[in-house]
Amino acid sequence: MIIIKSDEEIEGIRKSGYILARVLRDLREFIREGVTTWAINKKAEEMIRKLGGKPAFKGYKPGFSSKKYPFSTCISINDEIVHGLPSKKRVLKEGDIVSVDMGVNYKGYFSDAACTFTVGQVSEDVKKLVDVTRRALYLGVSKAVVGNRIGDISYAIGSYVRSFGFSPVKDYCGHGVGIKIHEDPAVPNDGEPNTGELIRRGMTLAIEPMVSMGSGDAVTKEDGWTAVTKDGSYAAHFEHTIAVLDHGPEILTPWDEDA
Ligand code: MF3
Ligand code: CO
Repeated sequence: MIIIKSDEEIEGIRKSGYILARVLRDLREFIREGVTTWAINKKAEEMIRKLGGKPAFKGYKPGFSSKKYPFSTCISINDEIVHGLPSKKRVLKEGDIVSVDMGVNYKGYFSDAACTFTVGQVSEDVKKLVDVTRRALYLGVSKAVVGNRIGDISYAIGSYVRSFGFSPVKDYCGHGVGIKIHEDPAVPNDGEPNTGELIRRGMTLAIEPMVSMGSGDAVTKEDGWTAVTKDGSYAAHFEHTIAVLDHGPEILTPWDEDA
């Protein structure tokens, strides 16, 4: 069931999203060579709480798992796509790409966002992957307008990344968000235009392209959480929570200084 939000609810989700955006922005300078993913997670949780929010992923049991997620963030490096587990043993090194994904609960309003950071110098083709994935996010967001269908978002993302020889990762989707962390509808990163649910005013959606440099096949590691590309190619992930309003989509998690 799709939950259409009132303006009051959207205001709550906006406040939640602003906390999240601030944390993702402030993390950028913290993410560099030598830092562990454990430290990044700790820093993110501290910042979320300091700003009056709660980490929404911590203790959350997503549909694909039988266990509750124990951390505030998911941190996925290089061939890891999503749901990477923060670890004291994972130390960032030059050339890595690091996707940080997190949710914030502010007074019962949920936002969800992710960003792929680069560590030091990365190769040209990896830089291209990160760039294309970020632009695919905005292209998808631009289709989240009243009267379009969810498939229009999916098609925009999928066709764009394919035009560079990259692949949208299979089996992982965006979703409704706001009153819960995961709501209907699913927002796939690939699909056909003019298919799927009609987009209506008051929908709040997490749009989140996950893109691989190689094939779009994903497998889950033995830890039961971390999704990696089957062929070992690098993957990037960018996500915004948006609200569909009369004048178009509003980004509720404005973490992007360059947007
Ligand atoms: N990566 C998911 C999303 O952005 C949420 C992760 S759920 C968790 O929708 F339990 F793994 F944290
Ligand atoms: Co999400």
